[in-house]
Amino acid sequence: MAQIGTDIEKAKALLESGELVAIPTETVYGLAGNALNPDAVAKIFSVKNRPSFDPLIIHTDSLEKVRKFTLDIPAPLDRLAAHFWPGPLTLLLPKKPIVPDLVTSGLDTVAVRIPQHPLTLRLLETLDFPLAAPSANPFGYISPTTAAHVQDQLGDKIPYILDGGPSQVGLESTIVGLENGEVIVYRLGGLEVAAIETIVGPVKIMAHSSSNPKSPGMLKSHYAPKASFILGDLEKLVPIYQKNGMPFGILSFSRKFQDIPEPFQKQLSEKGDLAEAAKNLFAHMRALDSVDVYVILAELLPDDGLGKAINDRLKRAAAGED
Ligand code: TXA
Ligand code: MG
Repeated sequence: MAQIGTDIEKAKALLESGELVAIPTETVYGLAGNALNPDAVAKIFSVKNRPSFDPLIIHTDSLEKVRKFTLDIPAPLDRLAAHFWPGPLTLLLPKKPIVPDLVTSGLDTVAVRIPQHPLTLRLLETLDFPLAAPSANPFGYISPTTAAHVQDQLGDKIPYILDGGPSQVGLESTIVGLENGEVIVYRLGGLEVAAIETIVGPVKIMAHSSSNPKSPGMLKSHYAPKASFILGDLEKLVPIYQKNGMPFGILSFSRKFQDIPEPFQKQLSEKGDLAEAAKNLFAHMRALDSVDVYVILAELLPDDGLGKAINDRLKRAAAGED
C-alpha cells in the first residue's frame, strides 16, 4: 500500500530520486514522475500499463518554466495560457529537444499544463524539473478524483500519494493545439469551449473521432467501468431492468427512482448543476461499479457547457462495451 499524506518534502525527495508520486490536481489525480528523466517516465508507462504510443502531459508552475522546454508559443495559445493557467487547460506546444521522446511518443509537440491546486503548485515550485503525469488510473479505466481512488488501483505500485482532497473540477483538462493557424480542441474537458472562444474566437473540435487517436485519450473505450454501461432514456430502461430481476445501477443527472436503494442509484447533481455533476461523475461511476451490478444505466445530460465534456465521457464509457 502507498503512504497517503500531505508532505511536500517527502514527495519532492521521492521525485528527485526517480520514484513516482500521485499528485492532486483540480481535474483528476495524476501519476507523476520527473519528465526529464527517461527512467522515471518509463516507470509511469509500466505502472499504468499504458502503451508507449500514448504521449504524456507535463506539468509545471510558471510560464517561465514552460518556455524552458517549448519553442515559441503561437500567439493564440499564448493568450489562452495567460487567461486560463493555472487551470484545466492543456496546450500542445512545439517542444525543445530537452523533452525526452518517450514523453511525447516522438511527436514534435509536447502537451503542457499548469494545474490549479495549491499543494501541487507548491510542490512544482520547489522542483527544478517538470512532472510528467497522466491520470493516475490503470490504462482504460476511469480517472481518479480522490487519493482513495488512486490507492485502490495503484497503491501497491507507488510509494506515496499526495492527498489534496477531492478534485474540484472532476473532468480531465481540455486539450488545445494549433493546426495551420486554426485553434483545435482535441479533448473536451474541464475548461468549456465557450470560454476558450471568448479569447481566440471560433475553434474547431476534433475530439469525436476514435479513428483519429492523435490524442489517444480520445479512444472510445477509455473510460469504461467493469460493469456494462448503457446510455438511454432512464424512464424506459429502468422498468425493463426492474422486471428482469438482475441487479443494476442507475446514474442519473438529478432524478431519483422510487423503490431503488441508494447504493444502486446515484444522482450527479440533485439541483441539476453541471459543474457539480462534473465533479461527481467519476466517483459515482466508480461507486456504482463497486457494488454488485452487471449493468449501469445512465442518461445524457444537457449538451451545453460542461455537459458536452460529461456526455463525451458517458459515451466513451458506453462504447467500451461494443
Ligand atoms: O487533467 C488532465 O489532463 C490530467 C491531469 C493529471 O493533469 N491528465 C491527463 O493525462 O488526463 P492523460 O495522460 O490521462 O491524458 C493525456 C492526453 C492523452 O489523450 C494523450 O494522448 C494526449 O493527452 N497528449 C499528450 N501529448 C500529446 C501530444 N503531443 N499531442 C497530442 N495529444 C497528446
Ligand atoms: Mg487518462
